[in-house]
Amino acid sequence: VSEIARVKNLNKIQMGQFEVESWYFSPYPQEYAYCDTLYICEFCMLYYASAKQLERHRRQCQLQHPPGNEIYRHQDISFFEIDGRKQRLWCRNLCLLSKLFLDHKTLYYDVDPFMFYCMTQRDSYGCHLIGYFSKEKESSENYNVACILTLPQYQRHGFGKLLIGFSYLLSKTEGRTGSPEKPLSDLGLLSYRAYWQDTIVDYLLAASADVTIDDIALHTSITTQDILHTLQNIGALKYYRGQHIICLGDKVIEQWERSKAKRKRTIEPDKLDWKPLS
Ligand code: COA
Ligand code: NA
Repeated sequence: VSEIARVKNLNKIQMGQFEVESWYFSPYPQEYAYCDTLYICEFCMLYYASAKQLERHRRQCQLQHPPGNEIYRHQDISFFEIDGRKQRLWCRNLCLLSKLFLDHKTLYYDVDPFMFYCMTQRDSYGCHLIGYFSKEKESSENYNVACILTLPQYQRHGFGKLLIGFSYLLSKTEGRTGSPEKPLSDLGLLSYRAYWQDTIVDYLLAASADVTIDDIALHTSITTQDILHTLQNIGALKYYRGQHIICLGDKVIEQWERSKAKRKRTIEPDKLDWKPLS
């Protein structure tokens, strides 16, 4: 691909009832690259150069949710698990769409090694995609998320934290800890730091006895490394009488209270209907 083709191409996308401005370049085929607006079917992810073409497609399209198994349902939120190998075109098109909002390189064509966990909101019309994360079927590095996205029209409503929470619920069900693939984007890092802080402080405040880093890891599936970094960031690691201790300051607790008051939705572990891939 030449340098010139890497500048941001499409200006915006139309998807469901939303019109969204794109942030970065995405390698859609040449014939779409210079459209001002790309029209995307919110259910099957096919894309069109005009509203008319999308309309024609919508009259025939049967899909009302992502093409996989519903593995979680709580209130109006559902998660669907989609195998990149079985739904290659759908997943490739999802990756093309996500690249519009991701600065760094991602894979668009080799989706086979990944599972895609898609979070939707249900109404009488169907299950509308809010965001997703991809996950390697086998990760040598113990990554539990490859790529994570909340569609811009749904950002800053706590959905990113829900996606992250769900990724750790899968790790917990697998009986291990996990961490997102690096490097994270700025927004990714902000969201993970916020999630780690909320989750670790939740656990510390609920614990009755002395707590070790390993206890936190076992309970949250956050890696000991990410726990240590988080505790350091919030100034909760103290050295006292020759021993490291965990100690939460007033500021941290106040911040946690504010964040908790904002949390409208949570991931409910008993709503997951899922077995780890062997
Ligand atoms: N500015 C400042 N803080 C932000 C922020 C922003 N634009 N976006 C998220 N945060 C922080 C906040 O602390 C926020 O918590 P708060 O709203 O209670 O203060 C926390 O992250 C989580 O926000 P949340 O609403 O749960 O996340 P989201 O649904 O907006 O999704 C991403 C977060 C990262 C998934 C989303 O920004 C995104 O898709 N970005 C583009 C793709 C990307 O960079 N992915 C990660 C790399 S693979
Ligand atoms: Na394609």
